[in-house]
Amino acid sequence: MFPAASLLTTLLLALSIAASPVEIRNSPITLPIARRLNTSGGTINILQHDQSRAAALKNVGENTLNRRTGSIAVTNDAVGYIAAVGVGSPATTYNLIVDTGSSNTWVGAGTAYVKTSTSVDTGEPVAVTYGSGSFSGKTYNDIIRTDGLTITKQSIGVAATSTGFSGVDGIIGIGPLDLTEGTLTNEPDTTIPTVTDNLYSQGTIAEIVVGISFEPTTTETDTNGELTFGGTDATKYTGAIAYTPLTTTYPASYYWGINESITYGTTTILAETAGIVDTGTTLILIATNAYSKYQSATGATEDNTTGLLRITTTQYDDLEDLNFNVGSNTYALTPNAQIWPRALNTYLGGSANYIYLVVNSIGTPSGEGLDFINGYTFLERFYSVFDTTNSRVGFATTSYTDATTN
Ligand SMILES: *[C@@H]1O[C@H](CO)[C@@H](O)[C@H](O)[C@H]1NC(C)=O
Ligand SMILES: *[C@@H]1O[C@H](CO)[C@@H](O)[C@H](O)[C@H]1NC(C)=O
Ligand SMILES: *[C@@H]1O[C@H](CO)[C@@H](O)[C@H](O)[C@H]1NC(C)=O
Repeated sequence: MFPAASLLTTLLLALSIAASPVEIRNSPITLPIARRLNTSGGTINILQHDQSRAAALKNVGENTLNRRTGSIAVTNDAVGYIAAVGVGSPATTYNLIVDTGSSNTWVGAGTAYVKTSTSVDTGEPVAVTYGSGSFSGKTYNDIIRTDGLTITKQSIGVAATSTGFSGVDGIIGIGPLDLTEGTLTNEPDTTIPTVTDNLYSQGTIAEIVVGISFEPTTTETDTNGELTFGGTDATKYTGAIAYTPLTTTYPASYYWGINESITYGTTTILAETAGIVDTGTTLILIATNAYSKYQSATGATEDNTTGLLRITTTQYDDLEDLNFNVGSNTYALTPNAQIWPRALNTYLGGSANYIYLVVNSIGTPSGEGLDFINGYTFLERFYSVFDTTNSRVGFATTSYTDATTN
């Protein structure tokens, strides 16, 4: 018979082996993110940007070949959510688009990659074609170091050429790992661990989870967002986070996909179906049939100049909540949350006196497996959690959920 102490030692050993073998050092970690509207190319056609991104996101699922060639997403170069990320030692800071719809992290579109003693040239060619741009180059392993965030041996694409990324240096991709498949030209079956995957495998965070906080803004540039790796920031939401499993429906299942239904007031405009949650889409896009119902329920007209729906002040006064039903939870967008910030109307080429709606059409009818995109205008009203470890997405209300800001 074992002495009690020895049994206890054995048990403790077994427990410590069963537990994560790496010590969690600093969890969670937060990174500020800034929203930027770039109007220097003239007025922004947000609808066109969002709809072409939606088409590219849908297309990837329909054809595995596209995935092989890395055609994965459109990046919106007019409205971006940017993180300043240090790479190398000493670090060079790159302004990277935070994208939940793609998963490669790369630099070099603007500021050239600066090699330091921490750079390791892998010689591996990498290429990604986004709907409105592309980059190709090779991967380096390097250290990412930014305000409490340290990732060693991160595979980083270094662009030799890129198109469609004016004003930014590249992307920090926080989509699912599988979206990196097909991007290494010589090893199409190999995936590239994302920054979140590496933070986890290096013991920096305890779970492969990213929490995102956005807040409504009425200015062109505003650092009012926050990315949290490894958990959530309880100061950014009210109440509890409710989770829903990732959808199994294709092609939404390639991304941060969930099932939801949408009601306007008490009228169902979109029966339960699959779609995605996406930081790279500004508007809320819904299937054409749901869009028609929303338009007639609100009485809105299509504005020729912006492409957005427009309502009168009387119609605004009559607007009802737009409810996103996810599992047993309902996330209500108030009337004020359904309109574009009036202070930013002219950036869209619109009139300062009009009221534009942020809900628009995804361009295809429901039943195609990616029937809605809950974009930034949804995410600025609800905290969101992207949880790979538990295959789920979470939402919580915030102090901005019902705020009158627009
Ligand atoms: C804005 O976009 C234009 C192209 O439309 C580009 O030339 C410029 O560099 C961008 N500026 C910023 C600050 O992103
Ligand atoms: C989502 O909806 C699809 C289609 O109705 C269904 O098959 C699936 O079980 C639902 N739930 C999840 C988590 O995918
Ligand atoms: C806007 O659309 C309406 C209806 O299609 C049309 O009559 C009008 O001429 C258009 N206005 C402009 C400025 O294109």
